Amino acid sequence: MTNSSLNIPTDKLPRHVAMIMDGNGRWALSRGLPRLAGHKAGTENLRRVIRATVEFGVKYLTIYAFSTENWGRPPEEVKGLMYILEDVIDRELAELNKEGVQLRHIGRLERLAPTLQEKVLDAIDLTKNNDRLILNVAFNYGGRDEIVNAIQNIMKDGIPPEDVTDELVSRYLYTAGVPDPDLIIRTSGELRISNFLIWQAAYSEWYVTPTYWPDFDKEEYRRALETFAARDRRYGKVSSKEYEASNA
Ligand code: IPE
Ligand code: IPE
Ligand code: MG
Repeated sequence: MTNSSLNIPTDKLPRHVAMIMDGNGRWALSRGLPRLAGHKAGTENLRRVIRATVEFGVKYLTIYAFSTENWGRPPEEVKGLMYILEDVIDRELAELNKEGVQLRHIGRLERLAPTLQEKVLDAIDLTKNNDRLILNVAFNYGGRDEIVNAIQNIMKDGIPPEDVTDELVSRYLYTAGVPDPDLIIRTSGELRISNFLIWQAAYSEWYVTPTYWPDFDKEEYRRALETFAARDRRYGKVSSKEYEASNA
């Protein structure tokens, strides 16, 4: 069976796609615009990418919107990014809800303004029964922070050391219950993980493109999914074809 708008078999479709939405600043710079104009354009693009994700039939989408390191940016930029999150919730929530998108947050809410925290929590609550697409928004998210938080909670719960397993750690992460990302897309060409899903990405496939985030369109998204479908995920073993051949 193939997905209606994609030329790949359904069983080759990633269940979970994660995106490092990078390059907004350079997109703006290349047009002589302020960085915040790049973030606005990036937000417009995010709306298109979410629609495409629903259309392609991908079930989980995680987007990296603000890292624990992004606090180190100039205060006006940080303020602008906070405002954008608030504005997106105000303007897009009803539509996302109608489309069956379930919003979740990964990271720490504590450092955000109380009104913004409330908006995020309300959005999560409003959409909690939707199941067409699970959209994890990584905002004030850091992979190391997530692991530190997990260790603290494991210790607080008094879990004996011998009970600490791979599965248990996964259950203590912000992404508990979400399958690991099959495919991670990074726009704007940097070859690094930038503290994103460092535990969950153990066996993710990568698609890195020089395209700046605001220009990452549905056609390139489709190409990323097709590239993924052609990959041989070996997980440290040998490919099933080779295995069969060597045992014939
Ligand atoms: C990604 O774009 C958005 C955030 C990190 C919030 P950047 O702002 O990092 O854009 P570049 O990398 O400077 O071009
Ligand atoms: C990663 O991009 C964070 C987000 C996309 C939110 P950065 O632009 O912050 O990453 P570095 O600084 O290039 O590693
Ligand atoms: Mg960047």
